[in-house]
Amino acid sequence: MDGNGRWASKRFLPRIAGHKQGVDSLRRCVRAVGQRGVKVLTVFAFSSENWNRPAEEVSGLMELFAMAIGREIPQLKADGVRMFFVGERLGLSVKVIAGIEQAERDTASNSKLILNVCFNYGGRWDIVQAAAKLAAQGKAVTEQALSELMALSHVADPDLVVRTGGEQRISNFLLWQSAYSEFYFSDKLWPEFDEAELDRAIASFNQRERRFGKTSGQIAAQAAAGSTS
Ligand code: IPE
Ligand code: MG
Repeated sequence: MDGNGRWASKRFLPRIAGHKQGVDSLRRCVRAVGQRGVKVLTVFAFSSENWNRPAEEVSGLMELFAMAIGREIPQLKADGVRMFFVGERLGLSVKVIAGIEQAERDTASNSKLILNVCFNYGGRWDIVQAAAKLAAQGKAVTEQALSELMALSHVADPDLVVRTGGEQRISNFLLWQSAYSEFYFSDKLWPEFDEAELDRAIASFNQRERRFGKTSGQIAAQAAAGSTS
């Protein structure tokens, strides 16, 4: 969800005003993907590297995060959204952790849409924490074993990864899980990411041929076999 700061700067507003607008955009996005039948939405809210921002912005983000969770839980609960918070808990305040635990608990019986909020998350952190667990258990390192210990083991790998804000990089997001994801880079700043842009991302995704290392001929043959069976 990139571009909050630039959205605010363009309007001569403090960066935190952009982050507040970002929360509104996320609320609309959650509703929109639900309406389109998406089953899992994973968003990158705060990275392991975001601690390096000015202290004022970091504390503002923590404050906003705790406040937004508390405020949004009832509606998310009513809408059938199940929340998971993915990332390192160590280093987060008692208030933030309490909010996270409350949201996970309150939405645990929901199943319409899974909303994973990556917070204090990094793709490298995830690979390392999973590998460390394997090492501690003295187990062999296999793709399967590692995948099972990763922080997003409760969902399938993402089909589509959307990055807003005009940058074309992954910035330590789902490094392991996006191995075969389709990417869509949007010039929209996150607060301006709307339903029309979501539909453009989905339309673009629908035009891709996903081969997973195979040839186009094999994929066509598979599709033909699938449609007659
Ligand atoms: C939001 O956008 C991402 C967060 C860390 C919350 P940015 O804060 O990175 O916005 P830009 O890139 O400065 O515009
Ligand atoms: Mg940014």
